[in-house]
Amino acid sequence: MKILNFGSLNLDYTYSVDHIVKEGETISSLGVQTNLGGKGFNQSVALARAGKEVFHAGLVGEGGQLFFEACNKYGINTKYMNTVLGRSGHTIIQVDKNGQNSIVLYGGANQKITKDYVNKVLNDFSKGDIIILQNEINELPYIIDEAFKREMTIVLNPSPMDEKINACNLKKVSIFILNETEGQQLTLATDANGILDAMQRRFPASRIMLTLGKDGCIFRSGRKTVSQKAFSVDAVDTTAAGDTFTGFFIAGLVDELPIKDVLCTATKASALAVQKEGAAQSIPTMEEVERFRP
Ligand code: RIB
Repeated sequence: MKILNFGSLNLDYTYSVDHIVKEGETISSLGVQTNLGGKGFNQSVALARAGKEVFHAGLVGEGGQLFFEACNKYGINTKYMNTVLGRSGHTIIQVDKNGQNSIVLYGGANQKITKDYVNKVLNDFSKGDIIILQNEINELPYIIDEAFKREMTIVLNPSPMDEKINACNLKKVSIFILNETEGQQLTLATDANGILDAMQRRFPASRIMLTLGKDGCIFRSGRKTVSQKAFSVDAVDTTAAGDTFTGFFIAGLVDELPIKDVLCTATKASALAVQKEGAAQSIPTMEEVERFRP
């Protein structure tokens, strides 16, 4: 079984600020860093850090060589990554003194995916292989349809949530990994149990992983519901915490570990990630996660 992550690669321009800038306000930043990120790239790094072989498909533009080098360092297979003309995807991230962030996204190369490119990548994958998707690239509905035709297991993290998600045939998704806000937007339910119930009614064949920030997470599959509390740590930067959770969660599912253990490991991994600055660079190794005693 192969794991393919078809997702974004962003250069993150991360500014440390006292507070997230308000409408009409101008503030000075306390520092700036250029980090490698993108929900797709971060999730591939997390999978690799969790010990999985992962193929990353996605496009970069100017400056994108950094991603190839980083993939080599992390052990991510770049066979399906391509470079296109123009700018790479990038973000402007503000991280405040409590480690909370706000992100402005510029799609760049991430929005230049063609159907032809999708076909070329997916033609190498088949029944039982896993595809992981987020919502930072174009052609998402087409990728889902084509992956489904090939009987791949489709994992969707519908983040960042916007109207493009509604253009996808979500009934084809095997596993949803979403946070409470995304769950509310998808179902109109207002609390965690309501979201899980509504998701299950709408997608009875899917497994649902609902993350709740400081309230932990809840997994639902058929009649089985398993929850995990969050670990209390001092956050420096929450960027990529969700991506870290996603990568370690999928790695645990692939290994068919007991779901309680999978949730505990993924939660520990994201608790470690928030204690470091940056996106991909904040993702811990499996050894670090195993050593972590919250
Ligand atoms: O989930 C964190 C990521 O979201 C950042 O790395 C940034 O690139 C945005 O896509």
